[in-house]
Amino acid sequence: MCGIVGYIGNREVQPILVDGLSKLEYRGYDSAGIAVLERERLDVRKAEGRLANLSEKLDKRPLKGTIGIGHTRWATHGGPSDANSHPHTDMSGKFSVVHNGIIENYMELKEELMGKGVVFRSETDTEVIAHLMADLYDGDLVRTVRALIGRIQGAFSIGVITEHEPDKLVAVRQASPLVIGAGQGENFIASDMAAVIEHTRDVYILEDGDLAVITAEEITIMKAETGAPAQRKKLRVHWDVEQVKKGQFEHFMLKEIHEQPLTLRNTMLGRLGRDDQVTFEGLELTDKYVQGIEKIFIVACGTAYHAGLVGKAAIEKLTRIPVETDIASEFRYRDPIVTDKTLVIVVSQSGETADTLAALQESQRRGAKVLAITNVATSSIARDADYVIPTVAGPEIAVASTKAYTAQLIAFYLLAIYFCQAKGTLDDQERRDLVRGLKELPLQVEKVLENADEVRCFAESIKDQKSLFFIGRGLDYAVALEGSLKLKEISYIHSEAYAAGELKHGSLALVEEGTPVIALVTHQELYEKTVSNIKEVKARGAHVMGVTGEGNMDLFNAVDEICFIPQASQLFAPILAVVPLQLISYYTSLALGNDIDKPRNLAKSVTVE
Ligand code: G6P
Repeated sequence: MCGIVGYIGNREVQPILVDGLSKLEYRGYDSAGIAVLERERLDVRKAEGRLANLSEKLDKRPLKGTIGIGHTRWATHGGPSDANSHPHTDMSGKFSVVHNGIIENYMELKEELMGKGVVFRSETDTEVIAHLMADLYDGDLVRTVRALIGRIQGAFSIGVITEHEPDKLVAVRQASPLVIGAGQGENFIASDMAAVIEHTRDVYILEDGDLAVITAEEITIMKAETGAPAQRKKLRVHWDVEQVKKGQFEHFMLKEIHEQPLTLRNTMLGRLGRDDQVTFEGLELTDKYVQGIEKIFIVACGTAYHAGLVGKAAIEKLTRIPVETDIASEFRYRDPIVTDKTLVIVVSQSGETADTLAALQESQRRGAKVLAITNVATSSIARDADYVIPTVAGPEIAVASTKAYTAQLIAFYLLAIYFCQAKGTLDDQERRDLVRGLKELPLQVEKVLENADEVRCFAESIKDQKSLFFIGRGLDYAVALEGSLKLKEISYIHSEAYAAGELKHGSLALVEEGTPVIALVTHQELYEKTVSNIKEVKARGAHVMGVTGEGNMDLFNAVDEICFIPQASQLFAPILAVVPLQLISYYTSLALGNDIDKPRNLAKSVTVE
């Protein structure tokens, strides 16, 4: 939610900020703005809508200077508008602030400041920070920011510059991500390292409660509350800059769908050792601990939650440990039965999702150990968890998650086998068969991608539909949920996923002549049952696209269109079955002319509750 960048150095700052914001647009994109200090004068430009609108304004009236901050917004307090865009300034225009997060006590502060004659120009919670800075300023920016932190409550990362002290940039992190990029004679701040890696590979990750004072030459990190120095390790980022570019693809989403054979391989790499034993480097889960687990919770949001549904099936089937799945925003408020014999697995691509982070903390408070499956090894969730399994999907930029989901499934499959090794519940042959199946998946996904055009026509045919259904049984139902979410996210067409056998208990009433239904039929043992459900919708006029394993030629008789995926064991079929669904969403949205990588109302990293 919202992206922050900042720069201090000797280069012209405007292009650096705009380029940084373009890498962060996935975090929010309903308005953007920058503030630049030139010869001790602050100037601000902001624009509602996409970054392109801001760029247009800047082309007409550029900002010159070598120090600045920028912001791309996902609206929480106050709708998208120029006035609500960041950076916000105080009344004198001498302080400028960018903020990611929510100031919970902003109403109280606003009233107090209004009592002192402050006039507010926006509906945002952030504006109070700018005015409060001006109110508290005592000639020392750092001291003032520390005093500010004592007054505001909530989750925030903040960047501040002021005309009073034009040689520095101050940043604070409290429960919203912030990194510092360390360059030569120049330094950066950003919500995500994607915004700085073109300029530097050396980063510091701020921790909650950290305050950083940044000049062109120096970075000083301290605890905001006490002022005591805080030692943070300088990390070297090995991301490939190309990974955050679209390359030959029209959209990041399509690129990321096509990267899946590679990201699946990378997520398995180094984890399948001699004798096909699963190992996780650095994971200190002892056999004794695993043997003592009485119950597992899998907690996540959105696509990561859907990965958890497949994870549950894999763990229960292979280990017989009972697993409960929960949506993170529900979990923490429902008094879950979590004890020190419970393992909580949180799943998060970004590792920053506020609801998932809160679920992690709640679980630890109740005495459970937490294992995180995340794509960002330096994220808050990775840092707070007791154990971490990184997925190796590389940066995922499109809001609609694709390669992170399939990498999460691989992580779950490996983890389930790993648990079996600790419990001694899988014989060697069974394990070898499973591992062989896993190793075949990247090539099988390549095959599905080679036939991408098969689903394209179907995708184009549904673009004007008002509603459609995804149906499936067992794991096919879990995949149906993900397919339906993908379609909603980027095409804005209403869809519902149903356990195929459940449809007749109510929602079948919505099926009429021409209603599109995507039926997943990869469960061999449930094949006949699902076919019966397909016949039920066909009898009501539905137009059915079947997704099934190669060889199930007789499904032709039950459906209108068919997409074959390679045969795989039931447990692994979701990785193959989801790919045509990702492609259907993509091509439907393409046909509709939607902004595929940045769908309306959404953001990739949701750091508010
Ligand atoms: C947001 C995104 C979804 C994502 C969910 C969880 O809602 O729009 O695509 O699945 O957050 O994100 P996480 O980073 O925790 O996996």
